[in-house]
Amino acid sequence: MKTMTKGAVALPLNEILAGDCIDVMNALPENSVDLIFADPPYNLQLRGDLVRPDNSKVDAVDDEWDQFASFAVYDKFTRAWLKAARRLLKPNGAIWVIGSYHNIFRVGAALQDQGFWILNDVVWRKSNPMPNFRGKRFTNAHETMIWAGKGENAKYTFNYEALKALNEGIQMRSDWVLPICTGHERLKDDAGDKAHPTQKPESLLHRILVGSTNPGDVVLDPFFGTGTTGAVAKMLGRDFIGIEREEAYRKVATKRIANVRRFDRDALQTTTSKRAEPRVPFGQLVERGMLRPGENLYSMNNRHKAKVRADGTLIGDDIKGSIHQVGAHLEGAPSCNGWTYWCFKREGKTVPIDVLRQQIRSEMAN
Ligand SMILES: C[S@@+](CC[C@H](N)C(=O)[O-])C[C@H]1O[C@@H](n2cnc3c(N)ncnc32)[C@H](O)[C@@H]1O
Repeated sequence: MKTMTKGAVALPLNEILAGDCIDVMNALPENSVDLIFADPPYNLQLRGDLVRPDNSKVDAVDDEWDQFASFAVYDKFTRAWLKAARRLLKPNGAIWVIGSYHNIFRVGAALQDQGFWILNDVVWRKSNPMPNFRGKRFTNAHETMIWAGKGENAKYTFNYEALKALNEGIQMRSDWVLPICTGHERLKDDAGDKAHPTQKPESLLHRILVGSTNPGDVVLDPFFGTGTTGAVAKMLGRDFIGIEREEAYRKVATKRIANVRRFDRDALQTTTSKRAEPRVPFGQLVERGMLRPGENLYSMNNRHKAKVRADGTLIGDDIKGSIHQVGAHLEGAPSCNGWTYWCFKREGKTVPIDVLRQQIRSEMAN
C-alpha cells in the first residue's frame, strides 16, 4: 500500500476504504486531495416496478442505498458529505458531482451554500439512452455534472490544451456525447447480472481526469461503487482513494482495479499550454549567435523579408520593430505571431525561427 503522510495522519493511497463516506472522510487529513469525483445516490424515488411494453421488469435503481425518506433527509445527507469532502480538498482542489434531475439541482445549491465555486455544468448526453417505456415524458437522455473549485479563488487544474487535443483540435465544449456503460465494460456478477446498477463509463472519467488532474494527483471518490474512478485513475497514473459502504461492490472494484494496467510514462504525457512554456525573447537568438545581425529572415509565405538587428528587432523596407510587429505590418494584419511567421536560411534550407526557440527551451528543461 502506498501512503502519503499529511500532518500526523497517513493518506491511504490506491485503497478502497469501507464504511460510511462521511465518517471515513472526516478521519482523513484535511487539505490532502487534489480532486473529488462523486456519484452520490440520486434519490430516484421510484414508485413500484418499471416495466417494458412486453411486461419485462426494467432493472432500475431501487437499492436501499438510494432510498431517502424525504427531500429534507436527502439535503441533510448532501450537505454533510459535501462539508466532509470540502475539508479534504487542497486549497486549489476541485470537485465533480454527477447527478440527474432528481438530485442535481439540490446538490448545486448545497455546493454554492458551502462555498464551492461552480466552474461549469457539463451535460453528459448519452448516445444510447434507455427509452422512456411509458411514453409519458421525454426520453431521459442525459445526466449533469457540476464542476466546482474549492472556493472562488482556487487555482484549479484545467488542461485546456489536452482536452482540445482529445477533441481533434477543437475547444472542448460542455456537452459530452458518450455512450452509457455496456458490453465488455459492464461488470457482471456470478449470475451474469449487472454487478452494479449505476456503473459509469470509463470514457467519462477519462475525460474528467485528463482535463482536471495531472499524473501523481490524488483523486478521491466517496461513492466508489464498482471503482470506475479508481480504474481510470490507475490507468492514467493518478493515485486514488475510494470509499464504499457495500462489501459486494468493494469486492468487484478491487478485482477490477487489480486487472488494470497503468499506461507507460510517455503515454501519460498530454499536450500542455504553450503559455506554460518558458518565455524566450527573440533577442536571445541574436545574443547567442544563432542568428547574426544583418541576416535576412523570410516570411513563411516567402513574400516578405526583413533584416535582423543587433538589439533583436527587425528592419524591413518601411518598418522596424519586433518580429511580431514587423510581421503584422507586412501582412496588413492586426497581429502576427512572429515565431511561426519568420524563417531563416541555412545550407539552402528554409527553417522556421521557432526551431531555435525550441532548442533553447529544451536546454532550459535539462
Ligand atoms: C451511484 S453509485 C456509484 C457508482 C460508481 N460511480 C461506479 O461507476 O460504479 C453510488 C454508490 O455509493 C454507495 N454509497 C451510498 N451511500 C454511501 C455512503 N453514505 N457512504 C459510502 N458509500 C455510499 C452505494 O453503495 C453505491 O455503490
